[in-house]
Amino acid sequence: MVGERREGVYGAPPTALALVGHGAAQLSPLVPGSAVIEALADGCLDTITIAAPAGTLERRYTLAQALRVLTPGGHLTALAPKDKGGARIRADLESFGCSVQETSKRHNRICTTDRPVRADDLDAAIAAGAPQRPPGLGLWSQPGVFSWDRVDQGSALLAQTVPALTGAGADLGCGVGYLAQHVLAGGKVTALALIDIDRRAVDAARRNVDDPRAAFVWADVRSPETAPEGLDFVVMNPPFHDGGAEDRALGQAFIRRAAQMLRKGGRCWLVANRHLPYEAVLAEVFSSATSRADAGGYKVFEAVR
Ligand SMILES: C[S@@+](CC[C@H](N)C(=O)[O-])C[C@H]1O[C@@H](n2cnc3c(N)ncnc32)[C@H](O)[C@@H]1O
Repeated sequence: MVGERREGVYGAPPTALALVGHGAAQLSPLVPGSAVIEALADGCLDTITIAAPAGTLERRYTLAQALRVLTPGGHLTALAPKDKGGARIRADLESFGCSVQETSKRHNRICTTDRPVRADDLDAAIAAGAPQRPPGLGLWSQPGVFSWDRVDQGSALLAQTVPALTGAGADLGCGVGYLAQHVLAGGKVTALALIDIDRRAVDAARRNVDDPRAAFVWADVRSPETAPEGLDFVVMNPPFHDGGAEDRALGQAFIRRAAQMLRKGGRCWLVANRHLPYEAVLAEVFSSATSRADAGGYKVFEAVR
């Protein structure tokens, strides 16, 4: 419609800190089904509000993409807790040639700017935060995904411990596909669903796991409609952070979901930081759970449904 403002939002900026219109298009890769910011044309939005990521490469990439998709003169608001990247937003935007107004509220820094006609260095920030193969990982990955430039030690322990698996399974919170690669390499796996809430991780996994038995699902493991059922096995290194804060309920929800996905007698192999309290929920939803490894601060369980 002529005169309608085209608005985007990245993540979930607290409503007390930023006003976002109901019609704003969600652009975060952490919200399944949202629009893909990389696929938007230059200058196609009038307004964008960003809950800015904490990591430097990811935040600069996101701000640069936001400036790319804003029309010249379009309005950008970016905010974050001061100690989680908020203190850096102003300098990031100024490095792109923006003139920035900054306020503080409830431990957040809130920066606003109008997109200059000429923004500097967007391409460099976008290249630095784009999909790449970090040498320490040797797989496709992207700044912002879990353990983006190195193998997670918990995942390495699980990969060493898990035996050859048989039948159809799922990798819950698959990340860039490190565990899935390992599972598909051994045993008699017939199908493997790789599920992650992070589109960047799922895209990377698709590049890393070139195997017709693999299916890639961008979804929240907690949402019921995404769950395959009757599986022979599940492998997982469940997340225990949500939005930067420790969230034990998230890992426990993964355990419950794994039990729902498995057939009777199906097996769940999981790794967790030793301090996480998963034993009670394992006992509640599985008929047995046995410790199979304990090293380097991580524990591996085999749970039988
Ligand atoms: C500890 S990492 C493990 C990643 C990968 N399996 C590995 O071993 O390197 C947990 C993964 O769960 C994903 N995740 C977090 N919350 C999720 C949710 N609600 N549904 C699906 N995936 C989720 C994260 O994006 C992350 O990739």
